[in-house]
Amino acid sequence: MGSKFTLKIVDHIGAPETKKYYNEQHFSEAAPRYDFATRAMSLGRDGAWKRKLIAALPQIEAPRCLDLACGTGDLSFLLAEKYPEGKVAGLDLTLPMLDVARRRNRFANVDFTKGDMCQTGLAEASLDIVTGGYAVRNAPDLNQAFAEIYRILKPGGILALLDFSKPPGPRTQALQYRLLKTWCGFWGLMLHGNPEIHAYIAASLQTYPDRLHLAELVLQQGFDIDLSRRFYFGMMELMILRKPCPAKEGDSTLLVQTGTGQANSWPE
Ligand SMILES: C[S@@+](CC[C@H](N)C(=O)[O-])C[C@H]1O[C@@H](n2cnc3c(N)ncnc32)[C@H](O)[C@@H]1O
Repeated sequence: MGSKFTLKIVDHIGAPETKKYYNEQHFSEAAPRYDFATRAMSLGRDGAWKRKLIAALPQIEAPRCLDLACGTGDLSFLLAEKYPEGKVAGLDLTLPMLDVARRRNRFANVDFTKGDMCQTGLAEASLDIVTGGYAVRNAPDLNQAFAEIYRILKPGGILALLDFSKPPGPRTQALQYRLLKTWCGFWGLMLHGNPEIHAYIAASLQTYPDRLHLAELVLQQGFDIDLSRRFYFGMMELMILRKPCPAKEGDSTLLVQTGTGQANSWPE
């Protein structure tokens, strides 16, 4: 099978605009076989990981939710199921991914929109929950993406992230890179005739912070870490972050909760 996709990640990953352009082209090519590829590359575990993320979210009656970089909509649909009275927006950069999501949609409370996670155009403090499955790693600018998520979340709102966990040591990083480049590249070759398609996962991790720096970054951005759990031999990570509520004068409870959340969940 030949691929019309000729872009090279190394030429594009270094700058926000070129990374964004590459991602839109690359995920347009991946879209028709994305669901199959994700199941195959995760050895069938991807669905269970996404359900784990949803299970970690609080019970809220009618939350406003955003599924960032929603792709073909898996997390959007799970959110709609968990919160039948809520509203779910799925936002993604790539129209062919959104086309698949729209075809799959059976829920009246889910809508899909094209947009960039660094500039969603959503109102400040308008969301109770933001989810991201393999999402912020693709951001053209990671700091900008976290700042945007922080802006659109209500105080007390939750950001739930599922993604690969990058280890801190250079040797384990090199091992992870080789493993993912080979395994995901193999599926790119099988499904698109081009290893570049899914080997992108390995390349994108090279410019992504390791798990300790990622935790530092989200704390710097103002989030509290409610939960950080690695699984699948430490290769995957689920993070539940919270935008803190402003502490009222004379109220020490919030400070205690924040401290407890961080100490319990990091490092593992
Ligand atoms: C690996 S897929 C994840 C899809 C889905 N969240 C899932 O869990 O299966 C990454 C998605 O990020 C989207 N994406 C890449 N850059 C983006 C950006 N700047 N803003 C919004 N979405 C983006 C891609 O179009 C793609 O659908």
